[in-house]
Amino acid sequence: MNILVLGAGGREHALAHKISQSPKTNKLLVAPGNAGTSEIATNVPVGVNDFGAIKDLVLAEEIQLVVVGPEDPLVNGVHDFFLNDPALQNITVIGPQKAAAALEGSKEFAKEFMMRHQIPTAAYQSFTAGTLQEGFAFLETLKPPYVLKADGLAAGKGVLILQDLEEAKKELSAMLVDSKFGSASATVVIEEFLDGIELSCFVLTDGTNYKILPTAKDYKRIGEGDTGLNTGGMGAISPVPFADKAFMQMIEDRIVKPTVDGLKKDNLPYVGFIFIGLIRVDGQPKVIEYNVRMGDPETEVVIPRVKSDLVEVLQAMGNGTLDSIDLEIDPRAATTVMAVSGGYPEAYEKGKEISGIEKIGDSLVFHAGTKEQDGKVLTNGGRVITVTSFGNSFREALATSYKNIEKLHFDGMYYRKDLGFDL
Ligand code: AMP
Ligand code: GLY
Repeated sequence: MNILVLGAGGREHALAHKISQSPKTNKLLVAPGNAGTSEIATNVPVGVNDFGAIKDLVLAEEIQLVVVGPEDPLVNGVHDFFLNDPALQNITVIGPQKAAAALEGSKEFAKEFMMRHQIPTAAYQSFTAGTLQEGFAFLETLKPPYVLKADGLAAGKGVLILQDLEEAKKELSAMLVDSKFGSASATVVIEEFLDGIELSCFVLTDGTNYKILPTAKDYKRIGEGDTGLNTGGMGAISPVPFADKAFMQMIEDRIVKPTVDGLKKDNLPYVGFIFIGLIRVDGQPKVIEYNVRMGDPETEVVIPRVKSDLVEVLQAMGNGTLDSIDLEIDPRAATTVMAVSGGYPEAYEKGKEISGIEKIGDSLVFHAGTKEQDGKVLTNGGRVITVTSFGNSFREALATSYKNIEKLHFDGMYYRKDLGFDL
């Protein structure tokens, strides 16, 4: 099979790595890819939202399967673009169609979906500039902290959690009236604050059947002890130790099954990964958010634990035969620790030479923001490179990731040394 992976991060490197190991893989392309994917696949300089160029590439390279890494092409309708083009409609695309991708593209849509299907989540109301005063009044009925969410995609920055009522009102007004997050905050969801520990559950679906992938927990804040600004994710652990059998059963019965059934009932076509952000409150799981793709860096711990042939699994998703797949999972724990550029998630420099990658033997190294130039690997993003390890416990795996990340070097390199501190 000829396969194209869309994206350029650690998630796409981990997916391409797994796909490259399948005997079913013939040609493997990544667009646009990074220095890591160029070692196992052919990088093509095509952007993930450039549908016209993607079409040309797919036809020229006789691609049969497209795996969409990030959310924006899905929210922009890349799957629909394929289905609507007679030259492309027989190509399998892994990722939901636009209508279903709104689960991530619109927080209000996701909340309405959960309400319709009785899926446990925080209580909420949504507001626009025309209902700003009602928004203020709703805030006054809540206890702090106040959770404000821009409805649309805001590059992971659209959620504000505020301690002070006056500040919450000011921010609500900034979002709705002053377009703080552009058109993404034309609608704002205000929701009840949920106090608990977070985890993520990843689901594969062909639209009818589903398989649950291993759970993972990521560490979003830049600083140790979960302090400082939010990032794309500083590392991850899989499985999540507190997600025992009984808790997973609750997640499946109350959340996964109603989600997949709800998509079908609502006629929201979904072949792809569902990433369910969860929080455990008083022993019960509630949904914080849906994403319509895999997580990054969660993919870098979840996918290496999948022992089944990923291409076979993806084909079954495309054919609607996921029920015939017996998903085999490595029982060992996996951890990943992300090295980031100095200054990230605020301003940072790119183009620093990365050394030491070849010294790492007993971990997997996935590139996030890197590029190759004149035989050197250079930093090319905030999150740069991540080290994934296995162990009999997550602590054992972490020890290996930490031992190996010390072998890497680039100017300004930073990583969190306290992953798992809360477990
Ligand atoms: P989201 O983009 O919806 O995942 O929100 C980003 C982060 O904000 C989540 O990972 C949570 O840590 C936090 N968060 C979102 N909604 C809530 C909520 N209702 N209660 C508490 N924390 C929340
Ligand atoms: N690591 C969180 C995300 O991928 O959204």
